[in-house]
Amino acid sequence: MPRVTFLHSEGKSGEVDPDTTLLDAAKQLGFRLNHDCGGNASCTTCRVEVQSGGEHLSEIDFEEQDLLDRESLSEPWHRLGCQARVQGDVVVRVPETKWAAPTQEKSEAQSVDIR
Ligand code: FES
Repeated sequence: MPRVTFLHSEGKSGEVDPDTTLLDAAKQLGFRLNHDCGGNASCTTCRVEVQSGGEHLSEIDFEEQDLLDRESLSEPWHRLGCQARVQGDVVVRVPETKWAAPTQEKSEAQSVDIR
């Protein structure tokens, strides 16, 4: 199963099923990735910066690219967590500036605290 690592001061890492979105992976691993629009590709609060394994993410579709372009996030390392699907190991950095402190959510998936 693909390993997803979220680099952040509260970061997590763990394995998820193939084709899981980064947002769903975050939920499964107990990392609170912002998603103000509910995963509808209209807010960019779920944006991550791919550090490695970008080739293991699904291709950017028109909707995702259009939103990233409108927010001047056209560099290829920017991805929307709600749109990018995991197909292999990937490491992403979560910008601290758009991130809110996590609530105490219980995770059922096994994850590793990487602080
Ligand atoms: S949750 Fe809004 S764009 Fe991903």
